[in-house]
Amino acid sequence: METTKFILSEKEIPTAWYNILADLPYPLEPYLHPATKEPIGPADLAPLFSMELIKQEVSTERFIEIPDEVLEIYRLYRPGMLFRARRLEKALDTPAKIYYKYEGGNATGSHKPNTAIAQAYYNKQEGIKRLTTETGAGQWGSALAMACNFFGMECVVYMVKVSYNQKPYRRSLMEVYGATVYASPTTNTQAGRKMLEMDPDSPGSLGIAISEAVEEAAMRDDTHYSLGSVLNHVLLHQTVIGLEAKKQMEMAGDYPDVVIGCCGGGSNMAGLSFPFIQDKFAGKDVRVVAAEPKACPTLTEGEYRYDFGDTAGMTPLTKMYTLGHDFVPAGIHAGGLRYHGDSPIVSLLYEKGVIEAVAHHQTSVFDAAVQFARAEGIIPAPESSHAIRAAIDEAIKAKEAGEEKVILFGLSGNGYFDMTAYDSYLREGLKDYDFVLACDEENK
Ligand SMILES: Cc1ncc(COP(=O)(O)O)c(C=O)c1O
Repeated sequence: METTKFILSEKEIPTAWYNILADLPYPLEPYLHPATKEPIGPADLAPLFSMELIKQEVSTERFIEIPDEVLEIYRLYRPGMLFRARRLEKALDTPAKIYYKYEGGNATGSHKPNTAIAQAYYNKQEGIKRLTTETGAGQWGSALAMACNFFGMECVVYMVKVSYNQKPYRRSLMEVYGATVYASPTTNTQAGRKMLEMDPDSPGSLGIAISEAVEEAAMRDDTHYSLGSVLNHVLLHQTVIGLEAKKQMEMAGDYPDVVIGCCGGGSNMAGLSFPFIQDKFAGKDVRVVAAEPKACPTLTEGEYRYDFGDTAGMTPLTKMYTLGHDFVPAGIHAGGLRYHGDSPIVSLLYEKGVIEAVAHHQTSVFDAAVQFARAEGIIPAPESSHAIRAAIDEAIKAKEAGEEKVILFGLSGNGYFDMTAYDSYLREGLKDYDFVLACDEENK
């Protein structure tokens, strides 16, 4: 019998996260203070983040133990499933073997709880009562709302307005967990008011929503800020994905030639690929590909330089690939990929040629999503569908070359709250935006 699902037992959930900073052959440039432009220290970050998370941000310990309280909640949904996409392989008539690691099988539907639970836990340990955050697609806000609820904390979510309107039930889901949700930009904060003065119809962006969440957290002692991607500690928590996938690929008797993840701030792609990049640093031949939208092509068309993580310029300056912190991407359906910057580690790895990147228009991404759904059943999140597009392209190339390639991609979330997007795709077709065109349109 051919195996389709590779299933680990609860005992095999990783008990430590893998920290790639222990193995990076290149130095990572420090964060700089937004005003002084000097490297920042822990004291600068303490008003916003828990001390344990600040330590993790700079730690060079190779493995960092996962606290029991976090593991106990991980057990609600981990280990995640690894599938062999046999029906998709048949549909594509490819000699390639396609595997996908599915993170959409938990209560909120994506990889985001892997870090939300850890961040809520460490903040709770240090006496923090409220967390503020931004959300694009709503996946991150949902995950943090659930995690805060588990630890008895308040959660305030600034949801990018275009996504808030596209996905009203994401807001309801967050409210079920007890969170307060605002459509950003709001009049609650200086950053939001300034944005609304400039453009009362602003669709919002992750950069603006971050400014609002950071501003609110900075004003209250009982409140910290929580970020769903980009930062080193977030990528660290996501490595449970790749650590499990490595064991599951071993069960399948294969090792990937290429590992693919969609890339917004970089956390799911990093979480899946970093344990494989550890092997690559040790001499293994494995390619890693980041898939991003052409409307927000941070790696493929951005510049590698210091920039702010938010629109208002309140966050530390970060050396990263960026499209400019004031860039407001077009309102594509993959809300979670509408971020102007990228993780500093992912950016460095891309700059050094360790990882590759591809960019796709949303129509071809939804073509791939529907092809995948019709073969495998699961309706994928629009963000994750960028990885599906890239994986299908690799499988078609393998067919043309007559190669039996092993492809592993991250299915970072399900798309059951994204039916408005699928409805538009199926009924009217979607509009595609190039980066330059998107800038021109937004600047009109
Ligand atoms: C399902 C899904 N995948 C991917 C992303 C992109 O984030 P990251 O690049 O940090 O994984 C998001 C962000 O909201 C998401 O919801």
